[in-house]
Amino acid sequence: MTTPDNGPPPAAGVGSSADMQADIEADREAQQLNTERIGQAFSALEEGRRDAARELMEQVLDDGRVSAGGAAYVWAILQELGDAERAKMIRDGTVGTLRKVIADHPDNPIALLDAALVLVEFGEEEDGIAALERTAQLKRDDLRPVLPLISLLLQRKDPERLLQIWEPTLAALAGDDFRAGVAALMRGLGHFGYPDHARQLAERQRPRWSAAHVAMLDGLVANLDDSGDDTQDLGSLIDEFDRFSAYYDENLEAIGNRGPQLIGRMIEQLGWAPDASREILDAGCGTGLCAPYLRPFAKLLHGCDLSVGMLEKSKARNIFDLLTRTDLGNPATYPQASFTAVICADVLVYFGDLEPVLRNFAAIMRPGGWLILTVEDAAGQGQARGWERRPSGRYRHDPHYVVQALASAGFSEPECEIRDTLRYEFRTPVAGYCVAAHVVPASSQH
Ligand SMILES: C[S@@+](CC[C@H](N)C(=O)[O-])C[C@H]1O[C@@H](n2cnc3c(N)ncnc32)[C@H](O)[C@@H]1O
Repeated sequence: MTTPDNGPPPAAGVGSSADMQADIEADREAQQLNTERIGQAFSALEEGRRDAARELMEQVLDDGRVSAGGAAYVWAILQELGDAERAKMIRDGTVGTLRKVIADHPDNPIALLDAALVLVEFGEEEDGIAALERTAQLKRDDLRPVLPLISLLLQRKDPERLLQIWEPTLAALAGDDFRAGVAALMRGLGHFGYPDHARQLAERQRPRWSAAHVAMLDGLVANLDDSGDDTQDLGSLIDEFDRFSAYYDENLEAIGNRGPQLIGRMIEQLGWAPDASREILDAGCGTGLCAPYLRPFAKLLHGCDLSVGMLEKSKARNIFDLLTRTDLGNPATYPQASFTAVICADVLVYFGDLEPVLRNFAAIMRPGGWLILTVEDAAGQGQARGWERRPSGRYRHDPHYVVQALASAGFSEPECEIRDTLRYEFRTPVAGYCVAAHVVPASSQH
């Protein structure tokens, strides 16, 4: 039941036959099928369909071929279903295997990293942290163990230990990775309520930053408090997305991103027929994660984004009819077309005041056209302005404000609203708000 996701390679001379290759392939496919079943069981549990979740779990357990990461989910679902005995069996088995992987492969950073991350999922944080630190020492040029360590040590309210360990490690990184590491550390410190530690870190780091990049450092410092200054350093933001595009899908999956599914659920609630009849703009399409949910409804599927790196990933998906580079904040850069629907998933988090961008959308939409958007739900924070800027540099919005901004920009009252978790950040759920409204013809606007 417990194959580490990315364990060490088989010993030389083993696994070279065609039979062995076929077995490996069959195991991989079975793991994939079981991963899908685990995802379906999670959804079933959320929707209160416990019998369906139980049946899916039986199928998974009968087959037994599940990655170590998958086993952590099986453990959580079985606990939720009250099957404590089998949950414990799976936990003990997997944790035992992972400890053995760590003991047997102390110099294999890939095996250590995978084992460490799953141990943490099982709540074995001390061992997980130790293996992550070892991984980072082995691969000083790799950010992957650094990022979970930042959130783990911060959750344990230990910013001092974090800085002691990680400032020297970050100093060993070069260029983009160095800056990304400092940015993650500062955002983490801000998110967990240590903005002063983040400011001190920035001051210590400043001499190492070139003049060309110091604006990014200033932006990170400015994000530490919701100071009311809403200037977005668009250049740095898009720089980050260009760099991030290579890992984007993998990363978003790891943090349980549900934005695209939320768009799919909204379309289902609106009762759209999959009749390929609409001209749809995926505004801020990124790598195209929403596109599969939109394609059945679109005669024309147009994606636009400001990051060339993200647009290239979308192009490789081969699902859009058109892709263009657009700054959603600048109407002059919009496609010269008229859309029956605009979808904007996880993009308005980069805008404080939504009215200008919503007006830009209205201007390129046909009367009656649908706008579907997601924002992070401010959940009562930032009420004075209707939005709040967070240490991550992203904004979250008050749903009341969103409704008001939609009306001011020429949209109807929301026809449909969904509130759900958008993803997990530092392992805590991020509340989201998805809303659908249509363009009100100018003659009917007050
Ligand atoms: C978090 S991603 C979401 C991508 C996609 N909609 C999804 O759901 O996977 C945010 C995207 O918004 C884009 N973006 C941010 N600000 C933008 C702007 N002013 N104009 C166009 N795109 C922007 C980024 O480049 C990035 O691709």
